[in-house]
Amino acid sequence: MPSNQENTVSRPGRLAGKVALIIGAGTGIGECAAKMFAREGARVALADIRFDAVQSLASSICPDSTQAKAFAVDVTSDGSVRQLVDDVVAGFGALHCLFNTAGGSLPEDSLVTDVPLDVWDKTMNLDLRGTLLGCRYAIPKIIASGGGSVVNMSSGAALRGSGKAHIYSAAKGAIVSVTRNLAGAYAKHGVRANAICCGRINTQRIRDTYGIPGQPGKSEDAMKVDDTIKAYPYWFGEPEDVAGIALFLASDESRMITGASIPADGGRSAY
Ligand SMILES: NC(=O)c1ccc[n+]([C@@H]2O[C@H](COP(=O)([O-])OP(=O)(O)OC[C@H]3O[C@@H](n4cnc5c(N)ncnc54)[C@H](O)[C@@H]3O)[C@@H](O)[C@H]2O)c1
Repeated sequence: MPSNQENTVSRPGRLAGKVALIIGAGTGIGECAAKMFAREGARVALADIRFDAVQSLASSICPDSTQAKAFAVDVTSDGSVRQLVDDVVAGFGALHCLFNTAGGSLPEDSLVTDVPLDVWDKTMNLDLRGTLLGCRYAIPKIIASGGGSVVNMSSGAALRGSGKAHIYSAAKGAIVSVTRNLAGAYAKHGVRANAICCGRINTQRIRDTYGIPGQPGKSEDAMKVDDTIKAYPYWFGEPEDVAGIALFLASDESRMITGASIPADGGRSAY
């Protein structure tokens, strides 16, 4: 009998040869994607407002920083994002994939008639402006590198009208719209753009604030988690579930897909 080792077929990683920038890689879905993209052979640029988090993640992936490098960025700042993208290309020599995942809602978000304007501004700046700034500076570098893929984090909240976080829903809805514009504008330059609209994902921020099944968070919405799961048993997932979709969209396996928003929300936007 051949040993297990002899049976193993080595294959190139699904992102072999690519440089991927993950913005918001410090924790949650972005952290998970960083590990997964690196396992699949990408050289990964890990950016976050929490530099300590991406620094320790990068050194856990690759202690000599040839495959993983950490960068500080504040996505709400034009100059910071522009500098980030320049530094990534200087460090790795190319850029093929952008995963924009910095974002999140504020528990004070509310109906458009009630919501405080500072919540409105913070949410739009982080979720929408931050995503667009990443695209603004990364896309020209992706084109110069021979083409690639942009993956933007939207939300199931972009696809249905029953939520109470109107500003977050507006920001994530705009990401769905503008992702189609990006697809239309840059396909001829070899750049695909897609979005992910996910349901509830088990990250620290979500556990603390909104709650997960059997473990309510602090906000009013927390009470509804268990009821929602009864109607939509696939609505709740792990960071790996979303990172796996981002990996597929970043890789050439999805080369026929652009302008799409994948509803990874357990059917909540469908029925
Ligand atoms: N977790 C969910 O249930 C869920 C559901 C739908 C959509 N999403 C979206 O997925 C994305 C990731 O969610 P998550 O739960 O992993 O969030 P998270 O809070 O765990 O991770 C977000 C990361 O972004 C970083 N970040 C925050 N502000 C930043 C800034 N100004 N500049 C740079 N980095 C900044 C944070 O430090 C953090 O590391 C978000 O865009 C969120 O809206 C999440």
